Parts: sequence; structure tokens; C-alpha cells
Amino acid sequence: MARMRSLCFLAIVLAALGGCLGSSRDAQCPGAVAVKKRIDCHPQPGASQEACEARGCTWCSTDVPNAPWCFFPEDSPYGYSRAGNIEKTDKGWRVTLNKRQSLSLFGNDISPIVLEAEFQTKDRLRFRLYDPNKQRFEVPLKIEGPGVTAEEANYEVEFSEDSTHFTVKRKSTGTVLWDSPLVDLFFSNQFLQITTTVPSTSVYGFGEHEHPTFKHNMDFSTYGMYARDQAPTSFANLYGVHPFYMCVEPDSNAHGVLLLNSNAQDVTLSPNPSLTFRTIGGIFDFYLFLGPTPENVIQQYTEAIGRPHMPAYWSLGFQLSRWGYGSLDVLKQTVDRMHRYDIPYDVQHLDIDYMERRLDFTYDKVNFAGLPEYIQELKKKGMHNIVILDPFITKDEEPGTYKPYDLGQEMGVWVNNSDGVTPAVGQAWPPGDSVFPDYTNPRTVEWWTQLCLEFKDVLDYDGIWIDMNEPSNFLRGQYPGCADNEINNPPYIPSISDRSLSQKTLCPDSKTYLGEHYNTHSLFGWSQTEPTFNVVQQATGKRAFVLSRSTFVGSGKHGAHWLGDNFSQWKDLRRSIIGILEFNLFGIPYIGADICGFNYNTTYELCLRWMQLGSFYPFSRNHNAEGNSEQDPAVFGDEFARISRATLLIRYSLLPYLYTLFYESHVHGNTVVRSLMHEFTSDQQTHGIDTAFLWGPAFMIAPVLDEGARSVDVYFPDAEWFDYYTGLKVPSAWKKNYSTVSAPLSKIPLFIRGGYILPEQAPATTTTKSRLNPFGLIIALDEQGEASGSLFWDDGDSIDTIENENYFLAKYTFSKGNLKTEILKNGYPGADTLKYNNITILGLKLRPQAVTLNGRSIHGDAFSFEMSGKLTLRISAPLTQELNIKFY
Ligand code: NOJ
Repeated sequence: MARMRSLCFLAIVLAALGGCLGSSRDAQCPGAVAVKKRIDCHPQPGASQEACEARGCTWCSTDVPNAPWCFFPEDSPYGYSRAGNIEKTDKGWRVTLNKRQSLSLFGNDISPIVLEAEFQTKDRLRFRLYDPNKQRFEVPLKIEGPGVTAEEANYEVEFSEDSTHFTVKRKSTGTVLWDSPLVDLFFSNQFLQITTTVPSTSVYGFGEHEHPTFKHNMDFSTYGMYARDQAPTSFANLYGVHPFYMCVEPDSNAHGVLLLNSNAQDVTLSPNPSLTFRTIGGIFDFYLFLGPTPENVIQQYTEAIGRPHMPAYWSLGFQLSRWGYGSLDVLKQTVDRMHRYDIPYDVQHLDIDYMERRLDFTYDKVNFAGLPEYIQELKKKGMHNIVILDPFITKDEEPGTYKPYDLGQEMGVWVNNSDGVTPAVGQAWPPGDSVFPDYTNPRTVEWWTQLCLEFKDVLDYDGIWIDMNEPSNFLRGQYPGCADNEINNPPYIPSISDRSLSQKTLCPDSKTYLGEHYNTHSLFGWSQTEPTFNVVQQATGKRAFVLSRSTFVGSGKHGAHWLGDNFSQWKDLRRSIIGILEFNLFGIPYIGADICGFNYNTTYELCLRWMQLGSFYPFSRNHNAEGNSEQDPAVFGDEFARISRATLLIRYSLLPYLYTLFYESHVHGNTVVRSLMHEFTSDQQTHGIDTAFLWGPAFMIAPVLDEGARSVDVYFPDAEWFDYYTGLKVPSAWKKNYSTVSAPLSKIPLFIRGGYILPEQAPATTTTKSRLNPFGLIIALDEQGEASGSLFWDDGDSIDTIENENYFLAKYTFSKGNLKTEILKNGYPGADTLKYNNITILGLKLRPQAVTLNGRSIHGDAFSFEMSGKLTLRISAPLTQELNIKFY
């Protein structure tokens, strides 16, 4: 807070009263609002006592870091009050609110406004604040619900007795989930603010940022949200916008809240604990999800915004990329050494250097001569490839020589200047100046579809990586710069980098089909994702892969994401876990970070530890920036390659489990990667853990995150845990404690949770090969000697196999010494040729005397028992036949 520091200095000079350091300061403001409850009355930079008091607010310094010195008094002269009675509507009620006084923070206040509550489902409440007299911008994402009665709902929405507060309670516990004093409400043309208390400080989410911790610090941290081409940096607004949080209540119930708004905005997390939302346009459109478990919250959230898409099986394989291979020869050398070391590897990406002069829909016929043929070679080896496309098109090629521009110009598909007619012209990768396709326009979708389809015949691709779609522009606004008006320079600019809406993008007053860029800016990548998904499906006839840098609420339905241009630093390795956990909350579970780091040169040890962690990212890709030293896992020599290979082989063997998690995510909205808090919510000690994570409920990854470390302190929540490598049960004394586990350079600690059955498959160097291999089951028993799990299987890349019921689904239950499989769906004929050949049971108390498979006894030499309680059974049984294994 630069503002804080300069104010601190000012206060020292002026008052010579001990300045900012003495906590006695608070005592010097008798009667003032307690520090933790302060709401900033001067959220923009440049606060002074004079400016503060001129707005009717209290000025009082404090030594509490980040706390505002200018804040609303108890008897704030702002806000709204209830006017009239609550009026019943179809799905709830509405009430009119009037502005209380004539003072205004930023001008153009709107009054009356309406507060409307809509009981969408029993676990989902929508409440909105809007202008009844004028249609304002609303995000074009319809979230509807059948409607329930107030009695049916699991929440209660009401006003306090004196009508000064608006609250939402969880009926079952009486916990107040939302409480907004109307006096703290602002609704002007370009400044909307609302504050709510939250029931605890266990608050997670909001994005896209690089958060230092998964559980937020409620120390007056403010996070801006506005899509920006910005490498991950603390407190900066990054590529996407996700105004969604989850809060775990003191009794371990959880709820989630979405603010469906696409304008530049910020949120302040205060120690009260409370949240203050500020946005500069649109309406306040809130959705509250009642959970009550964290998993329920995300299921309900993705039910509303769209379930995550089902990724192709091959896309769960390891992926390699770099910007700056520079030539096909270098690419080939890289691929060859990957193959020489037999490193599992399914996907090769082509970054902008494959293009001719960085022009979309071309390839460099000199440096990459032979690329189309080479792609076919890779395909024959069972690999897949992804091409990058940028959302800017040069306008400066010779007329008639560059179709993407000529056709787009003819069809009128660009984002326009404020006149709504002339295209906005900026500068980006391609030579000359560029125009920007407006994907909110159906004509643009037609244009893009045609070009992507035609390009498939030039360069065969399996998926498209849509980059720079914030949209990025290398200038501050388009030519000739942004006009000085209230749209480009609103009275309040949220806490975003440079406090500028046009830095590295287009001017807010540019025109898109859906309205002013001011409103639609952060929807750019989102609006590009669905059409790209559709055209990839159309072009390939297979399940689409779309990797988008900019995302918004609902992007997971069609796209994957990676955490952007991270740095080859240990801090970035650690924080990638937080980003991955957060995107699972945002409904984008197919997420990863650039393994080994994008910016800067990596080091051997960092890259190796990152290969180990990245082997467990849902989207596992090593990617590197132009000019940096090579960092593919085959370039560092034998030891590195051997360790990377071994770790990736573990990933590949567990892909059936990961794929099943994606199935559950697509169908039920489950998270794929989870925090320990997510599964062990009632254990407060888990709430702040973000150095280890889970695949689904059952597989814990506890990576090494520090240079030189050869052990990791792992927290084991209350459950049975088994070392993945040895099958040894974690000692009981370790439960609910941190324990130090050894992690030599060659190893990433991994644990399996008792009570679960994980399907696995013998790995190979591509999923094309591994998919033909025999399956196994890892049965990790809980204290009662029970476990369960499931397997989803289909052909891995056809469109809508679930919707068309072309899949296989088995449920496994282990109880009372019996393993039973139940086939819930047998709709994929390809499963008929597959077999189980291996069953591993962890946590058996005694060596079984005899084992039968479907009534026939298995010979003693087909199973082995270790004193650790691990039993390995070699069988040969068809996947599609129900198994009944009994242990006596
Ligand atoms: C920016 C992307 O974030 C990065 O991954 C890519 O390599 C460069 N653009 C070049 O295309």
C-alpha cells in the first residue's frame, strides 16, 4: 500500500505524535469504528484527512497494516434504506431501496434500486441489486433454477428487525452467511459497493491472482479482478476473472458465493471478518450456494455455471512445449531425446514460432519446412499435437495475401473503436498493426470457424491453445490512445495493476457486439473458448482440447487453463498448488502450471522437483519462454530423465483413477484436485494447508517445495494412510500431526487414503499404448477393513460418450474380506478386450489362508503377502466381468 506509506509519513510530519507505529493511535479516536470493522471510505489512491472529512468520513491512523485510515463512521451519511413493503414475486420477493442522503462518493448515484431475492433451488439463492428504471449490463450467462418456496429452501433471507441489514442464514444451524448493512451499500453508475460479514476467516477463492496462501489472509488484503496479460505477481490482477469464494463456517459447514459481474472490480478481505465488493459497472448479481460440504458447494456452483468438460484421455498424458524451438530440427532433437529416454509423453505443443512471422493460420515454411509431415509421424506414434492461435490479426499484409484479415474485414468481425464502425487497431506479435476479433459477435464465430477448419488441412491439430486473449495489446489502448472520458477513466478504478483499464489492452470505450469493452473486456477469452471448442470438435471429429489463458465464470465447460507466465523460482513451484486448488473451486479442474517455470532459466534441482509435482497436475505440461535454456525432462541427462520417467510412470499408471475423477467432475461437478481442508473440513488444522493436495478423496501428493530439502513435513488427517511406494501403513501416532517423511531427490512423497479403491493400469510411454494394458486395483482399507471406488472407461476421445451412454462404469466395494465389482454400465465395446491382472490390498491384518475368484480358488503362488499387510494378487479376469474375490 503505497498510499499507506505516504500517509504514514504525512501523519508523522504533521502530528509528530509517534506517527504510524503507536497502537495508541486507535485510542486517540474515541468512538470511532473498531479497526477490524473499518470500511475504506477512500479506496482510490491519494487519501488525505481533508479529502476524507470532506466526504463525511472519519480519518484516524492506525498501526494495523493495510487498515484504512479513512473509513465510514457508524452513522455513515451514505447507503440506502428500505422503502415500502416486501413484494412477492414468482420465485421470491423484491423490495425497493432508496438512497438515504444526497452525499455521493463518485457521483451519478442511482435511486431507487431494487433488491430481489430468488429462491432458485433449495441450495441456491440468487439475490440481485439493480436499477428498476434502466437496463444495465449483465453477464450473458443465464443461471436459472426451477424455484422453491421459502419453506423448502435451506436458507432464510430476511431484513433485520429495524430493516437496516439484509441477511442470509443457514436454516439448519442459524449461521449467518451473509449480512449487509444497507448503510454500506453504494449503487452509482460507475461505482457499486457492498459489504458483508462472513462467518469465519476460512475464506478461499477469488481470482485470478497469485495468492500467497490458499486460505486467505483477512488483513485488509485487496484483490483486483480485470483480465490482464500479467505474469503471476503478488496482488496483481491476472489473466482471468473469478469473483467466487468459498467460506467454511465455524461448525465446518461450507457455502460459496458468486458475484456474476464482468466489470473491473476488487474485493477487500477484512479481519471483522468481512468482504467488501466494489465494481464499476453492471449490477450486483449474487448467487449463494449452501453446500454444506465443500464438495457440495462446487457441485452446486458448477451446476449453475456449467459442468467442466470431459477431457480426452490422451490430454491427461504428459505434454511438452516451449516458445522458441525456432526450427523443426530443434523440435525433432527434443522429441527424439524424450523418446530415447522412454519418457511418457503424449502431446507436443507448437507455440508462435511455428508460424510464419507470427501470423495466425500460417506455418513457417523455411524453419519449419516439413512440419505437416512431421506431425503425421508423431501421430503414427500415438501422439497428439496442439497449435497456438492468438486473437490479433495483422492488417498490414499486402491486400489479397492474408485471408484471415481480408475475410474478417469483409465480414466486419473486429472490435471497433468508440464510433462503433472503425476497427480498433493495436499492436501485438504479428508484424505491423493488428485488429482484434470480437468473439461476442456471431459473425466472428463464423469467421473463426471457417479459418480453423481450413487450417486443419494445412497443419493437422488435435487441439487449439488460445493465448493472449485478455485481450493483450502491446500498447496502452489502441491507436491513437484512449480518449479522456468517464468510460476510459472512471472516477474509481479498482485495485488493478497500474490503476489503468487500458494498459496492455484496448480502450474501455471500444465497442463489441455485446456492448462496451468496459463491460465485456474480461469476457473476451471466455467468449472465444466455446466457439474454439466447437470448431475443434468439428475439425477433428473428436473430443476437443482448448487451452485458454483468459477465463471467466463458466470457462471450464469448454476449456482448460494454465497459470500463465510463471517464473523458474521455488516460490512459483509452491504457489502453483494454490492456483491449481483455486481453479478446481472455479470449475476449471483441467488446470496446470508451466512445469520448471516459464520465465528465467530453471535449475536442475528446481526443474526436477517441478517435474515431480507437475506429474500430478491435472494438466501436466512443461513449457518454457523464448531465450531460456532448454528444460525438457530429457535435456538434463540420465539421472534426471530416469527420475522424471519414473514419476510420470506413476501418473500414467493412475490415469484410470484421474480419468474417473474427471468423469465425476463432468457429471456431478466434483473437484479433481482437492485441498486437505476439502476432505477433512472439521479438522481446523487442515484449513491452512496448501503444500500438499489430493487427487479426489484418496491420493495425497506431498511434494518437495524447498531447495536442498530431502524430506517433507506432511500433515496426516485422521484416516488410514499408506505409503504409495511401500504400501506401509502410516503409524497411528502420525495422525492429526505433521511428520517428517524422507524425500531424496528421486522421490515425491505420495500416500493413499484408506477406505478407497483406485483403479490403475500398467503404464506405457503414451496413453495410446497404455490404454491397451491390463488394469489393476489398489484397495486401501480403512480401520473397518472396508474400501470402495469406481472406474469410468470409454474410448477416450469420442464426443459425448457419456451423453450417448457409450461407456463402461464399474463400482468396487471391499467389505468383510470380499471384493465385489458391480458393473453399472457396459456400453463401451472396447472394454471387452481389457483385463485385470493385478489386485493390491493394503492394510490387511492377517495373511489370508485362501483366496477365491468368482468361486474358484486361486493358488498360493498367485498371491504374495508382506508383513506390512500388503497383499498382491495376480489374476487374469475380463474387465467387463463382475469380480467376486473372497479372502478366507
Ligand atoms: C504468452 C503465453 O502465456 C506463453 O505461454 C507463450 O509461450 C507466449 N505467449 C508466446 O506465445
